[in-house]
Amino acid sequence: MRTAILASGRGSNLQALIDACRNDTLAIKIIAVGSDHAGAGALKIAEDAGILTGIFQAEDYSSRQAQEDDILRWLRENQIELLLLAGYMRVLGPRFLRQAEFPVLNIHPSLLPAFPGLHAQRQALEYGVKVSGCTVHFVDEGLDSGPIILQEAVPVLAEDTEESLSQKILAVEHRLYPEAVRLVSLGKVKRIGRRVQILQQEE
Ligand code: GRF
Repeated sequence: MRTAILASGRGSNLQALIDACRNDTLAIKIIAVGSDHAGAGALKIAEDAGILTGIFQAEDYSSRQAQEDDILRWLRENQIELLLLAGYMRVLGPRFLRQAEFPVLNIHPSLLPAFPGLHAQRQALEYGVKVSGCTVHFVDEGLDSGPIILQEAVPVLAEDTEESLSQKILAVEHRLYPEAVRLVSLGKVKRIGRRVQILQQEE
C-alpha cells in the first residue's frame, strides 16, 4: 500500500515504521512524509531515508481548510492508499476525512477512551491510574475517538514521572503501530461500525 505519514515533531514512530518496512514485515511502502513544522525531526528522518517530504505550515495558508485541501491534493498526487498520523498535532477536519479515499490511522499514548488530547501521560499521572498504555485507532471526526484497532497496557508505578511514563509507553508504541499497520495492510482488520475485528492475528 502506498503510505504517507503526517508528523509534527520528533518522529520516533516514523523511524519505527521505516525500520519495520526495512525488515519487510509490513505490506506498505512509505512514499511521503508531511509535516506542519519545517523543523520537525520527522522530516530529517524522512530525508535521510530518501522519502519524499512535504511542508504544510499553518502560517502559509489563509485557513485550516486551505491547508488541509493542499495536504489532500499532495496525498492524491502521490496516489496514497493509507495515511498514518504519528505525532501530528492537528485535528483533521470533517471535510478532509470525508473526502479522503484512504483509511487514516493514529497512535495515541493512553488507553483510549481515557485521556484523549494533549499530555495524555500527564493526564494519566494526575488522575492516578495504575495502568496506562497506547492505542492505535482509525481517525474519525472526534478527538482521538475513532474505532480502536490495537491497545497495549503498561503499568504506572508510584515513582513514574511524565518523562518515565512517556518513555515506557513509547517503547510499546514502536512495536504496536507497525503491528496495527501490518494487520490493516494485509486486510486482516475488519470495521463493523465502531467495532474493529482482527480477522487473524497470527500468520
Ligand atoms: C507519541 O507519543 C504519539 O503517541 C503521540 O505523539 C507522540 C509522537 O512521538 N501521538 P514521535 O514524534 O513519534 O516520537
